Amino acid sequence: MKATAIAHPNIALVKYWGKRDREHILPYNSSISVTLDSLETLTTAEFYDGHEDVVMIGQQRDTIRMPRFLDTVRAYTGIEKRAKVVSESNFPAAAGLASSSSGYAAAALAVTKAAGLELTAEELSRIARRGSGSAARSVHGGFVEWEKGVSDEDSYGRRMHAEWPELRITVAVTSTEPKETPSREAMEQTVETSPYYKAWLASIDEDLAAVRRGIALNSIRLVGETAEHNCLKMHALMLSTQPPLIYWNESTMAVMKAVQKARHDGIQAYFTIDAGPNVCILTSGDTDTRYLTERLEAVEGVDKILRCGVGAGARYTEDHLF
Ligand code: PMV
Repeated sequence: MKATAIAHPNIALVKYWGKRDREHILPYNSSISVTLDSLETLTTAEFYDGHEDVVMIGQQRDTIRMPRFLDTVRAYTGIEKRAKVVSESNFPAAAGLASSSSGYAAAALAVTKAAGLELTAEELSRIARRGSGSAARSVHGGFVEWEKGVSDEDSYGRRMHAEWPELRITVAVTSTEPKETPSREAMEQTVETSPYYKAWLASIDEDLAAVRRGIALNSIRLVGETAEHNCLKMHALMLSTQPPLIYWNESTMAVMKAVQKARHDGIQAYFTIDAGPNVCILTSGDTDTRYLTERLEAVEGVDKILRCGVGAGARYTEDHLF
């Protein structure tokens, strides 16, 4: 059976950084994200009688990561056949724009359906997590908390009971080059060598509580201040690893400064940055978002501005890619 799924990337407001179990992708800390709307990944999967998995991610053949994920799905479903998988995103991959979150959420849904299964959101999130930790959250729309859990069974994304239709996430793209160090390696290096990792973990519960409260109140200030602080703490960990991990470029810095300046001038805008040079800016409502966008357009090195709101969870579609 051929199956196709669509999923959106999410951006973490409290970041996941560090695995306590690398095989099952169990995190050291819980995280909270918002799923984005206008960016998306479409994935079609089909099991067939060939001798190898054939996986195309955009224009690139993937012979390692998705085939390894397919092994996980095969072990879970009992299916032994190889698969054909084609995946297309409408935004750049591997540039710190969370493409693996939408990629593996869409793959988890399409591949399990192609294997003849209709899973619960909880099961799907656990499977997506094995492809990429952040994908555990993109199974759902809206605001999602991935609780670290104690084992494989209880570590998955849960949709939070909150709506915030005015929240806007504006992405300032400063580079679409793939990053030099993938998140997976960067996390391991951080856990092993940053002297600040314990302090990071000790500060997470406070950030989670503040973001939960801020989302419930639709408070851009509480969510924004906490998300920005949490992001800077994660980047401080990266800077303090050996060798150091510096994901920012000059324009990343210029955008951060522009956001601070906008705030100084009364615009409620806050930034967060994943493992890459692109900056996501949080605002609430159209007026502040418009003022913010005008400022971003004037920053040198901002190649593109992507406008997003709060998006939906992963779902099936009949728009097959082959
Ligand atoms: O799931 P991964 O391996 O792409 O790691 C995601 C890491 C961050 O994007 C930096 C943080 C997060 O929680 O999404």
